[in-house]
Amino acid sequence: MIMNGLTNFICFTVLSFFALVTAFPVVREVYTPPVILPDASTVWVVGNQYNVTWNVTDAPPLQNITDRTGFIVLAKGGDEAWDNNTLLELASGFSILSGTVEVTCPKVPPANDYAIVLFGDSGNFGNLFTIAE
Ligand SMILES: *[C@@H]1O[C@H](CO)[C@@H](O)[C@H](O)[C@H]1NC(C)=O
Ligand SMILES: *[C@@H]1O[C@H](CO)[C@@H](O)[C@H](O)[C@H]1NC(C)=O
Ligand SMILES: *[C@@H]1O[C@H](CO)[C@@H](O)[C@H](O)[C@H]1NC(C)=O
Ligand SMILES: *[C@@H]1O[C@H](CO)[C@@H](O)[C@H](O)[C@H]1NC(C)=O
Repeated sequence: MIMNGLTNFICFTVLSFFALVTAFPVVREVYTPPVILPDASTVWVVGNQYNVTWNVTDAPPLQNITDRTGFIVLAKGGDEAWDNNTLLELASGFSILSGTVEVTCPKVPPANDYAIVLFGDSGNFGNLFTIAE
C-alpha cells in the first residue's frame, strides 16, 4: 500500500531501529497510530487552522515507544506518488501520544488528493482530503 520513497524511508527507519536495538538492547516497538482527521470528507481552507487527530487508544506504554516525538507532513497525490511530490512539514516536536495537534493549512494549490502523513517511529498515511483556496 505504501510505496516508493515512503517504503525506503520506512526501511531506513526500521534498519536504524534495528541498529539502535543492537546498540541498546531495550525492548521497544514501532508505534504508528492511525490518522483520524482529516478524513475523506474534510475540506481545509488555506490559511485556516485545523486539528490533525490520530488514534492513541491502543498506544503502548510510553517507555516502549521508540520515538515519542512526532512530526506531520502534507503529501499530495497519494502514497504512490510520494516520490514525486514536495512534502510540506506542518508540525513537529509534539508528543506522539497527544492524539492531536493544531496546524495551519499552508498556501498550496487547491486539490482533492492531499493527505497527512504522521511520523512517529515510521510514517502513517491518512485519508486523501481536499484543500480549497
Ligand atoms: C483543536 O483542539 C483543541 C483541544 O481540543 C481545541 O481547544 C481547539 O479549539 C481546536 N482547534 C481547532 C482549530 O479546531
Ligand atoms: C481507535 O482505536 C480503537 C482500538 O483499535 C478502536 O476501537 C476505535 O474505534 C478507534 N477510534 C476511532 C475514532 O477510530
Ligand atoms: C513494554 O515493554 C516491556 C519490556 O520492556 C514488555 O514486557 C511489555 O510487554 C511491553 N508492553 C507492551 C504493551 O507492549
Ligand atoms: C514520477 O514521475 C516520473 C516522471 O515524471 C514518472 O515516470 C513516474 O511514474 C512518477 N511516479 C509516480 C509514483 O507517480
